Amino acid sequence: MTDETLINAAIAAMPSAYAPYSQFFVGAAIRDENGNIHTGVNVENAAYPQGSCAEAAAIAAMVIAGGTRITSIAVAGRGNNLCTPCGGCRQRIREFANHDTPILIADENGLRQDFTLDDLLPYSFGPDHLG
Ligand code: THU
Repeated sequence: MTDETLINAAIAAMPSAYAPYSQFFVGAAIRDENGNIHTGVNVENAAYPQGSCAEAAAIAAMVIAGGTRITSIAVAGRGNNLCTPCGGCRQRIREFANHDTPILIADENGLRQDFTLDDLLPYSFGPDHLG
């Protein structure tokens, strides 16, 4: 499943990243259950561990806007390697997504590969485990 509007939103967000230490600019865009799009970028910090990922910012933007479900998410970053979400962000996405929710990985030129949440985080732990 591809969603060009969502991918383009992630790509458009990339230059807004605050990444003076890694110079690795990431944009993320979420489509929620209402069809609304929420974007985010990575925001680094001189105290390195305090930096945060683009996906976390996009999730926060969705929650602020009243969205409760991620129906698809696009992540855009440059480089030869696919800019797949880090382990922590896979779990963050899991909180608001289904096993088959698309995770679209792009670079500055467009979609490179699409996954589902289950592809990237199999046998995951989530809200349903808590009853
Ligand atoms: N980063 C993200 O924002 N999302 C990803 O999916 C991978 C990594 C950020 C964190 C850090 O600011 C920079 O990229 C280098 O790791």
